[in-house]
Amino acid sequence: MAKLRVGVLYGGRSGEHEVSLASAAAILSHLDRGRYEAVPVLIGKDGRWSLPASAPTTLSAGAVIAQARADAAPVVSDGPDTVMPPHPGRHTLITIDRGAPSPGNSTASAAVSGLGLDVVFPVLHGPYGEDGTIQGLLELANVPYVGAGVLASAAGMDKAVMKRLFEARGLPVTPWCAFVAADWSRRRKQVVAEVLALGLPLFVKPANLGSSVGISKVKTADALAAAVGDALAFDRKVIVEAGVPDPREIECAVLGNDDPAASVAGEVIPSREFYDYEAKYLDEGSRTIVPADLPPARLAEVQRWSLEAFRAIDAAGLSRVDFLLSRTTGSLVVNEINTMPGFTTISMFARLWEASGVSYSALVDRLITLALERHQEKQRLRTSVL
Ligand SMILES: Nc1ncnc2c1ncn2[C@@H]1O[C@H](COP(=O)(O)OP(=O)(O)O)[C@@H](O)[C@H]1O
Ligand SMILES: [Mg+2]
Repeated sequence: MAKLRVGVLYGGRSGEHEVSLASAAAILSHLDRGRYEAVPVLIGKDGRWSLPASAPTTLSAGAVIAQARADAAPVVSDGPDTVMPPHPGRHTLITIDRGAPSPGNSTASAAVSGLGLDVVFPVLHGPYGEDGTIQGLLELANVPYVGAGVLASAAGMDKAVMKRLFEARGLPVTPWCAFVAADWSRRRKQVVAEVLALGLPLFVKPANLGSSVGISKVKTADALAAAVGDALAFDRKVIVEAGVPDPREIECAVLGNDDPAASVAGEVIPSREFYDYEAKYLDEGSRTIVPADLPPARLAEVQRWSLEAFRAIDAAGLSRVDFLLSRTTGSLVVNEINTMPGFTTISMFARLWEASGVSYSALVDRLITLALERHQEKQRLRTSVL
């Protein structure tokens, strides 16, 4: 049987570029070489696509970030440029190798070649990767891909849209409101009144981001404007949420398409006041507990709500659903869904499935199968009424 050619799209024009490098390294080192041929495709921080001369190998997101911070020079691609044409065809990728100018000939000769991919694993986190944009291109190219489609990706990325869909499905969320930059500049008084009515402390977040980038915990009314300014630096839309008092952070992984399954639950114990960027990737002190210590009825609720959250946005393939469980009030809310969660071997998603009896390699296999199934199902749809 011919090997399946798997394009692993990684990096990306997002604050989570480095996390993606670690996720890709893990996938590339676990793809069964007997069955798959891996084609790593790097998307640079500038958005350029290339076939890297060497694939990423560092498996820890923290180590990749520390390295990127230490490097004075920005990471630039060392391989030929490649692009994905936005139409179906034999060649999923068109590579333009400009070559090196040879002695006596200052003009490099460009070689153009095409390559077909059987399936793409877009292991990209955050904007331009997890938000439906890449998924749109993959749809246009008609190539099977791992994970949620355009709408689910976009809805899962936008915390305000996501919370509306959760509410429509009857899932509990913390009280929240959202506004855009124009509201903040034109009717700030009203916005501030609406926001402060949620009570303190508040969490102020860019609506479309991840890894806690741009998020502040606001404890006094005076600190609100600076926090909104920070969030507006990353997105034109801001969401403000009532802080869940003394929260336990519970996470659950979902795998499947139309019949999704939920894993055991896990718990994160952040090393800092909340699970911010430093606590996620750089502090050694954050701990994760798998499985989480929860009474059976609570675990069942977490699993049921995870599947509901997955269906609420019409996700596919995989998701990680995150909850906040107040130690003070005992109430549980759905905080968010991540349609392309961190995917290293030590990431919560993989650990939750490991503890549920699915190994990392089996996960990668299953996700590729789910991608092919979903694509096949779509091929049966009519595209013409004639
Ligand atoms: N409403 C809230 N109440 C208490 N803590 C929160 C709240 N919202 C966010 N946090 C804290 O901030 C972290 C990041 O917020 P989250 O919404 O998960 O953003 P991201 O998508 O960047 O992960 C959470 O893991 C939690 O520690
Ligand atoms: Mg989160």
